[in-house]
Formats: sequence, C-alpha cells, structure tokens
Amino acid sequence: MSDKAILELDGKKFEFPVFKGPENETAIDISTLRGSTNGVITLDPGFKNTGSCESKITFLDGEKGILRHRGYAIEELTKKASFLEVAFLVIFGELPTKAELKKFEDDIKSHSLVNEEMKDIVVGFPKSAHPMGMLSSFTSALTSFNPGVVDINSKEDMYNAIVKILGKFPVLATWAHRRNHGLPLNYADNSLGYIENLMQLMFKIPTEDYKINPIAVKALDELLILHEDHEQNCSTSTVRIVGSSGAGLFASLAAGVSALWGPLHGGANQAVIEMLEAIQKDGGDVAKYIAKAKDKNDPFRLMGFGHRVYKNFDPRARIIKNAADELFEDLNLNDPILDIAKHLEEVALKDEYFAERKLYPNVDFYSGIIYRALGIPVSMFTVMFAIGRLPGWIAQWKEMRENGEPIGRPRQLYTGETLRSFLPFEKR
Ligand code: SDX
Repeated sequence: MSDKAILELDGKKFEFPVFKGPENETAIDISTLRGSTNGVITLDPGFKNTGSCESKITFLDGEKGILRHRGYAIEELTKKASFLEVAFLVIFGELPTKAELKKFEDDIKSHSLVNEEMKDIVVGFPKSAHPMGMLSSFTSALTSFNPGVVDINSKEDMYNAIVKILGKFPVLATWAHRRNHGLPLNYADNSLGYIENLMQLMFKIPTEDYKINPIAVKALDELLILHEDHEQNCSTSTVRIVGSSGAGLFASLAAGVSALWGPLHGGANQAVIEMLEAIQKDGGDVAKYIAKAKDKNDPFRLMGFGHRVYKNFDPRARIIKNAADELFEDLNLNDPILDIAKHLEEVALKDEYFAERKLYPNVDFYSGIIYRALGIPVSMFTVMFAIGRLPGWIAQWKEMRENGEPIGRPRQLYTGETLRSFLPFEKR
C-alpha cells in the first residue's frame, strides 16, 4: 500500500502521509488538512472512521473478533492471570514479576482507607440515587482530598496516584450500594485479595461472618479482567479528552464513569437484564422482542447486541457465556433468565436482520447474568463494569499525558443561520 494518500478538491491535489501499524492497520494522517486546504475539515459523526490517537495498550480486530492487551490474547489473560496482574500489564506495559505484583497489591492495599469525611458526602445522597451517579461524584470528590494534579514527569507521583485510586475506587463503588440499601459502610479488609475484598465490601454485614465463595471470586475475577480495557470506546475517549485539558486523573476518571453510565455503553448490562426480565414477564415471547428490535418505528433495541467495532462475535461474550455455564454448574444454579438469553441469541443469530448488520452478542449480553448469580443487584451492574474498566482508563490517561497529546478540540460543519440583524421586540 502506498505511503501517501491523495485528496483531490476543486481541481487541486493534496497529499497526506499514510501510516501502518504492526497489525497492518492503516491510517491517513490528516493533521495538515485544514492548514493546507484553507480550512477544509472532515466530518465523521460518532468518529466511526476517525482515529483519535496512536496507542500501544489494546488491539482489537472487529472482523476476526480479536482482543489483546499489550500483545497478550484476552483468552489467555482471563485463564492464566489475575485482575491486578492484567491491570499492571495494561497500565505499565509488561506482565509483572512475582515481586512487582506483590508490591503492587500491597501498595494498593495501603491506600484502601478512604477519608472519613467522604462519608458525609455519601450520606448526603438520597437512598434512591443511582450508584453510577454516586460513584462519579465520589470519584470527583477525591480531588478535594487529593488537590494536587499528578506530576506526569514523576514516575513516583504517577505510581502513587495509580495505586491510590485502585485502592479507593472499590470502596467508593460499594459505598454507593451500601447507601442504596441503608447498610453501614464497610472498610476494606487488607488481609484479603482484591476481588475477595470487593465482595466483602459489598456484602458483609457487621452482625455476621462473611463467607467468601472461591467459585464466585474466580468468576468475578475473570469477568472483571474482560472489562479492563477496550481501546478508544466512549468512556475511555472521555477520560482521554478530559485529561487532555490538563485536568487531573481523578477528575478525568469521574467523567469516564458518567460516560460509561449510558445504556448504549456500559449501562447496557443493566438494560440487558431489564430486557430479559421483561421478556420473562411477557411469557418468554422471544419472537415478539426480536420483531420489536427489527421494527424501525419501535425505539426498542436488543440490548447486549451489536458493537461499533466487533462485526463478528465479541470474544468477551464467548468467554462470559462459558463462564456463566461453569458458574451455574459449580453452584448448581438455575436461572430462567439465562435460558431466555440463550434462546434470544439463537433466534437472533439466525435472523437476516441481525446477520446483515453483523449484530452479535457483546460483552454486556451475558455479564449481567453472572452478576445476578453472584447476588449483585442490577443497579450495580454498570458500577462493576466501571471497577473492571478502571485500569484501562488509567492506562489510556497515562499514555495520553506521557505522549504529550494536544488538548482535544474537534471542529464542526456549521449549518445554522448566516449573518442577520438584531430584531427589536415589535418585529419578532
Ligand atoms: C459496550 O466501544 C466499545 O468498545 C464499547 C464496549 C467497551 O468495552 O467499552 O465494548 C462496551 O458499550 C458494548 C455495547 C453495549 N451497548 C448495547 O448493547 C446497546 C445495544 N447496541 C447498540 O445500540 C449498538 O449496537 C451500538 C451502540 C453498540 C453500536 O452502534 P453503532 O455501531 O453506532 O451502530 P448503529 O447504531 O449505526 O446501527 C447500525 C444498524 C442500524 O440499523 P440500520 O439503520 O442500518 O437499519 O444496526 C442496527 C441499527 O438500528 N442496530 C440494532 C442494534 N444495534 C444496531 N438493531 C437492533 N438492536 C441492536 N442492539
């Protein structure tokens, strides 16, 4: 392929360099477009065809259903590594040695105590508040207790900010759940691993011992690994663009939490369960909901289906579906919702509408079924997604700042009124 792209406009030719990545992805660098064409820009709503940056963190191949972090296949990472091991890889670029991982885990634990004054903020929320709204606010509130902005040129400063947020985020996330249910706010238990601690934070009540189920821990560890990073998705792009203004890491992460909340993004895992429960309530009439999803006059979408990048199976959906089967077998569980999900998938994948549009189950289609089996309330599903995605947001923010990327400021095609004179009241 040529290393130049030619654009012809009004009889003039303009050349732009073409770059190719190690996975044979090709990009046309149009950074000189506006300057060389006296103001011409490209237009690409939703950035479906636009690369915002170069990145070394995650590689996706939507046609082949490939997902790799720093070159390692997601299938290997979920089977052979722990959540924090993958977090270290995603953030720092290499798998940690045993000693590095132990230090990382210990340093994270050393930051698991949240300032007691944060509790005044938690109880300031009504019990009915959605936990994603609370989590975004609590994350932003961390800036009040950590006013300094991370010195990106100091390895130590960056490392400390990373282990601090990894230590405090699960506490804040579960405090939102505890607030919803009028339960006392738990402290982290540094004698436990990251996932075990997350579960005791969520479920432990002071009047009883909390027994940790290793099968549940394994399923949750695997599920959260699958969420760690996903290149330039909506919430990650939000974290990068907020950070590009010089805003601190915690403020940028708070914005990412809000972006993830949307039902077209991370909020889909909650919407999937609500959809499956509606189908169950409606007598399991899968065909009716498939027809609704295909009906252009009906705003209903098959939640958990379709993806901006994957035009083949989302590799994460495959892994999660197997994990759900294993968990249900191990715990001897039976949930009609899982059967409805499988039936819905089977019917949709045979339907021309979905096949034509290359709509397959995505990461959110089965994840909620596992969360449900673990006793996690539906309102907390997207919070779990945020806990999983935190390492990726951190890694992408760190990469953007280390690369010294410019402030994100897209242009637009103005289609409004041209110049007109002010109208006095009597003429309006
Ligand atoms: C995540 O980007 C990431 O990587 C995200 C994520 C991550 O890890 O960060 O993978 C996590 O957000 C997964 C996606 C979760 N969202 C959902 O499950 C919500 C349901 N899915 C969609 O709304 C949709 O598929 C998107 C938002 C995921 C992708 O939308 P696109 O790429 O912008 O596609 P589109 O909206 O332009 O749809 C193309 C066609 C349209 O039909 P036509 O106009 O061509 O006739 O497909 C149809 C759409 O109507 N379509 C669907 C559909 N998704 C797309 N029709 C019915 N049900 C659906 N779910």
